[in-house]
Amino acid sequence: MNKVYYAHLRKTISSLTEGEEDVVSLMATVVCELYHSDHRFDWTGFYRVTSPGMLKIGPYQGSHGCLKIPFERGVCGAAARLGKTQLVADVEAFEGHIACASSTMSELVLPVWDRAGALIAVLDIDSDQPNAFTEQDAAELEIILAKVFS
Ligand code: SME
Repeated sequence: MNKVYYAHLRKTISSLTEGEEDVVSLMATVVCELYHSDHRFDWTGFYRVTSPGMLKIGPYQGSHGCLKIPFERGVCGAAARLGKTQLVADVEAFEGHIACASSTMSELVLPVWDRAGALIAVLDIDSDQPNAFTEQDAAELEIILAKVFS
């Protein structure tokens, strides 16, 4: 699979999700399209905010993911706690990284906001390649998440 073309991905996700309000359906569609869009992405999934300080797994593609992550733990917890995208070039260098798969070498986790501005989830993308993600990936994915969920 070639490197993702974000203009095409935006258009595809926009047409697939147009008019849909159900968050689980939206999440399932986004992770599916992302997973199949780029050879770098070997796990794509949402962790939902299910109670204060707790994330639980939502729709995902790839090998099994851990079911719950408190905000104090992992890259996902950092994205939720800080409300900021986490671009991790080397997961071994990220203190407290949670390795759902031993193959994960780099990771990109983005907070997901609803239209009221509340944090509803984080989007987690793992790669089995070192330093796989760029600032452009982060910026483009933030645009897609804002269009679909905010
Ligand atoms: N690596 C994540 C945990 C989720 S698994 O990668 C699917 C973290 O450190 O939060």
